[in-house]
Amino acid sequence: MLKGKTVILGVTGSIAAYKIANLASMLTKLHCDVHVLMTQNATNFIHPITFETLTNNKCIVDTFDRNFQYNVEHVSLAKRADVVLIAPATANVIAKLAYGLADDMLTTTTLACTCKKIVAPAMNTNMYRNAITQDNLKRLTQFDFEVIAPATGMLACKDIGEGKLPDEQTLLNYILKEIAMEKDMKGVNVLVTAGATQEAIDPVRYITNHSTGKMGYALARDCMLRGANVTLVSGQSALTPPPFTTVISVTSAKEMFDAVTEHAESQDIIIKAAAVADYRPASIAAEKMKKKEDALTIELERTDDILKYLGEHKHPQQFLCGFSMETEHMLENSRKKLEKKHLDMIVANNLKQAGAGFGTDTNVVTMITPQEEIALELMSKEEAAHAIVSQILKIAVAANLFLRAAYTHTIHFLVAEKAEEVLRNMGLF
Ligand code: CTP
Repeated sequence: MLKGKTVILGVTGSIAAYKIANLASMLTKLHCDVHVLMTQNATNFIHPITFETLTNNKCIVDTFDRNFQYNVEHVSLAKRADVVLIAPATANVIAKLAYGLADDMLTTTTLACTCKKIVAPAMNTNMYRNAITQDNLKRLTQFDFEVIAPATGMLACKDIGEGKLPDEQTLLNYILKEIAMEKDMKGVNVLVTAGATQEAIDPVRYITNHSTGKMGYALARDCMLRGANVTLVSGQSALTPPPFTTVISVTSAKEMFDAVTEHAESQDIIIKAAAVADYRPASIAAEKMKKKEDALTIELERTDDILKYLGEHKHPQQFLCGFSMETEHMLENSRKKLEKKHLDMIVANNLKQAGAGFGTDTNVVTMITPQEEIALELMSKEEAAHAIVSQILKIAVAANLFLRAAYTHTIHFLVAEKAEEVLRNMGLF
């Protein structure tokens, strides 16, 4: 995922420095070039050799270390970096960065970096809450640093409160968001539905299906990594939702209908990967239904077809993609759904095909549009998600969709560039 990327990890003097060994290892496994810079104080908590062994790169502490291949290593490294993460960041280093002090390898290199810079504070709660630290963090955000909020829990000093360094996966998520994929969806609003709905019979039982949400979550993650603003409307799923998405959890088809239709208008792309119940019990028993000697019949009524409703109400700039799971006549049945629900694309899979369907890590899908059918071979759900989103973008760009996203971008750009002029013309400056 990170092949060809260079990541600088800045480690400062906090006990949480040990977590960065794992982060460095996770990054190396994703094939990126990891360079660890440490402050002198950090070496009291973890030895540079640990990082050198994990990253295969020299871990630099001293700006004037003579054993380097580059003469001005802090500048050379800064030029190559795609992202810098300073974690754990002590109050002292935060203060130095906020005021441009550069008296060691870590602060000098960070000052020389033009790439994205992220800071993860880790310290005692009172130090973190101190107005001086808060002011320094605010200053850093004004200089385009991103600040990762510390976690809450028991700290090294045994106090309980804010100030813990978040876990390695959280830190990695920030790096992935920044550099994992080309940001070809910046400014694009995407709504993805995923998982299974549950239709209550009584307070104990419900009707559902085997969907795990894997495909929908992979789609949401792919769009997020490409820079989109993602809303994930999720039915039942045991998975952890992708970070940096707005998650709306729902239970029934009715709740999904309400959530989706409430947010549909502002979306450029809607992808409906959820397995929605077509029927629900006509009435929900208020108390647990007791068993009797004879057979039981439950009357079912139709739920709303959310996708059909969206197709009938979609605005011309919107791209609507449905999913279709079949066990026979997959192409024929799916094309009928494409037409009936007024979709731009339907992604079909056959439950009976090996490697496709519920709960698997792989899928075998065919992307059907009014013009063509593109069959993808067996691949992971992440790869399938990437291929589906790429195909949506290809069609949308060719059809000049997402103009709204492009306009929003242009307006932001104009306002940022010419804020003074625009405000002056409006008589507000
Ligand atoms: N869908 C929906 N609302 C429903 C039922 C389905 O939005 N009440 C959406 C699903 O999210 C999916 C698509 O419609 O994107 C197709 O779902 P599928 O279950 O394959 O087909 P159905 O339309 O339900 O038709 P059938 O049950 O006859 O196969």
